[in-house]
Amino acid sequence: MKLGLIGYPIQHSLSPWIHKHFLEQINQEGQYQLYETSGDKFSEVVEEMKCGGLKGFNVTVPYKQTIIPYLDELDSYAKQIGAVNTVVFENNKWIGYNTDGLGYVQAVKDQYPGLFTGDKKVLILGAGGAARGIFYALCQQDFQKIDIANRTMEKAIALKDLNQREEIETDCFTFAEAEIKVNNYDLIVQTTSVGTNEDLSVLSLEKLTDTSVVSDIVYQPLTTTFLQQAKDKGARIHRGHTMLLYQAKLAFQKWSGQTVTVTELMKELEKQ
Ligand code: ATR
Repeated sequence: MKLGLIGYPIQHSLSPWIHKHFLEQINQEGQYQLYETSGDKFSEVVEEMKCGGLKGFNVTVPYKQTIIPYLDELDSYAKQIGAVNTVVFENNKWIGYNTDGLGYVQAVKDQYPGLFTGDKKVLILGAGGAARGIFYALCQQDFQKIDIANRTMEKAIALKDLNQREEIETDCFTFAEAEIKVNNYDLIVQTTSVGTNEDLSVLSLEKLTDTSVVSDIVYQPLTTTFLQQAKDKGARIHRGHTMLLYQAKLAFQKWSGQTVTVTELMKELEKQ
């Protein structure tokens, strides 16, 4: 089974390691090739991939929207979010999916199933591409409230429109406004790139109480400064490498039609 990843930059991607492990789990010969592509070569490389006998491929930054016109169909999830991270060659058609948000929800549910019962309240920090997938996927669950805080308010307001369920309330805040409300939430999800390989966090968790779960999709470092602040307040944490593994699991299952597990990979990453 030939698979691949298109994006830029991707030399340090963990995806080849993850998918090689999944191929071994199902005893399937295959390869997962990196197609690192700068903007002016994008069309050419996509055409090369489509003619290369691939079963499918992943799409990452900055091409999750750029890829859409090159596909024959989008599933309803990818259409709503407006971004594709997984492409599958099915019945002679290239079909776009998005497994980021669902992967996130499965990763949190696995660790904290109790969060998904009894009308809990969620705060999402950030309103970019990653936040879109996560917000949409969380809106399919039974939360009472899913608020959004972002540096650019217009982007938070635009994201709010993705919520089509009237029973889930959504308010938008600046980070300064959110900072004084953090004690109101059962789950706080950090989706911005702030904290990636840097000792910074997007807002202070000074007011956090120990009943909350704090989640960060950044996985380098594995425990970000933001998560360390949450731990210091006695809160439970959820780390970003789990989302990385679950979005890959869901993509691989679409390509192979078989179920794989992330347990071993999670242990390996947590050794670091
Ligand atoms: P991704 O696909 O990783 O979500 P993105 O679409 O560029 O990337 O979104 C990045 C998110 O991080 C946005 O919410 C962005 O805030 P703006 O909407 O105001 O741009 C947020 N972000 C990035 N750098 C930031 C910073 N230094 N401070 C606060 N927010 C930041």
